[in-house]
Amino acid sequence: MNLRISLLAVFCIFALTSAVKNSPTLVLLDNLAIKETHSIFFKWMQDKGYNLQYKLADDANLVLTKYGEALYDHLIIFAPSVEEFGGSLSVEAITEFIDQGGNVLVAGSSNSGDALRELASECGFEVDEDGATVIDHLNYDTSDSGHHTKIVADSDNLINSQVIVGSKKVSPLLYQGTGLIADPENPLVLRLLTSSSSAYSYNPDQSIKDYPHAVGKNTLLIAALQARNNARVLFSGSLYFFSDEAFTSPVQKSQGGKKFDKSGNEEVAKSMAQWVFKENGVIRVSSVSHNKIGEQQPPAAYTIMEDVIYTITVEQLSGDKWIPYEANDMQLEFVRIDPFVRMTMTPSGYGRYEARFKIPDVYGVYQFKVDYNRIGLTHLYNTTQVSVRPLEHTQYERFIPSAYPYYISAFSMMGGVFVFSFVFLHYKENVKSKPE
Ligand SMILES: *[C@@H]1O[C@H](CO)[C@@H](O)[C@H](O)[C@H]1NC(C)=O
Repeated sequence: MNLRISLLAVFCIFALTSAVKNSPTLVLLDNLAIKETHSIFFKWMQDKGYNLQYKLADDANLVLTKYGEALYDHLIIFAPSVEEFGGSLSVEAITEFIDQGGNVLVAGSSNSGDALRELASECGFEVDEDGATVIDHLNYDTSDSGHHTKIVADSDNLINSQVIVGSKKVSPLLYQGTGLIADPENPLVLRLLTSSSSAYSYNPDQSIKDYPHAVGKNTLLIAALQARNNARVLFSGSLYFFSDEAFTSPVQKSQGGKKFDKSGNEEVAKSMAQWVFKENGVIRVSSVSHNKIGEQQPPAAYTIMEDVIYTITVEQLSGDKWIPYEANDMQLEFVRIDPFVRMTMTPSGYGRYEARFKIPDVYGVYQFKVDYNRIGLTHLYNTTQVSVRPLEHTQYERFIPSAYPYYISAFSMMGGVFVFSFVFLHYKENVKSKPE
């Protein structure tokens, strides 16, 4: 009996501590050997509570959605060479999954198949040509004596966002795979890891016939997309980046570089996975309020020139709890087609932000608008519509200084008419009688 109770207690504690509650995750592989070569990464995910379901990418029974509902929260595609997915899975099915809010982690290689290429272009990246590999003759690992395709990426080339990549103070990263290109104008694409300026992407077995497609810093190694529905897609040109070998290998840059006992791959890959699977960088609005200063309830309509106070409370996901989100760059706009007021709100603790301002001297339909878009965080957007009316006629001043000439003219006119009527009524013409 006692044993049973203690077992139950242990089970409860275990259930409470696993932060990610059993998120069903589909893992697509080229072959089952990848499960072994990438075991550290998969084991870490399983220990975090992800429910990983391994399938071959061309398995004839693959399904992602059933009766219009996604069967999985997340999708991992570690199947670079797949030309066509099996079962009912296709690039359209995956984009639909993303549209429904699913998150996807994809890793390619120098020989990426058509399926990945198509998926990448749906997400705003382009995978370099078949066979193309990122080559860097200045930053390659000493263990690579061939074409200098096992390159060493400095952690300085990571994106400036702790939420996504964690600390940038890690050992250099090992990378072997193809290069990606992204449209620099696309605001939804994040360039997580770029190569150094001496790298380029080309097929090493081909003699140089034309220019490489991606040169220098334009060569993306790892890119990500946060869609407008906040679904996240991370695309790495290298499956090797996530492998046990890359996680545990020492790194030494060519030409007498410093030797590191272990690459930074493990830390960075884990941070990126936590980001893409929405463990990090998820914020939401928990409440919004607005009212006149000195009152508690919002009025039916504001009047021009009134003093208002607007408060918004923002929360951040941490484990499976929502905690206050603290920042000092949250802005409010008061918009009637154009913003009339734009100000930074003052944080007042516990994730509350407050703005006090005077409504402009223009009436109409306005919105309180908070549009908070920061790298690595989900897009926060909240609007509240209010109407602002002009003064009622009883609310104006009785006498306006600028109208004094009119008052004077009106009263002088009245006075004039009064005097004139007296004169008109009582003036007796003093006519001498004519001689008859
Ligand atoms: C803004 O946030 C409030 C409070 O969470 C919510 O009720 C409202 O629907 C949100 N408005 C929009 C446009 O999202």
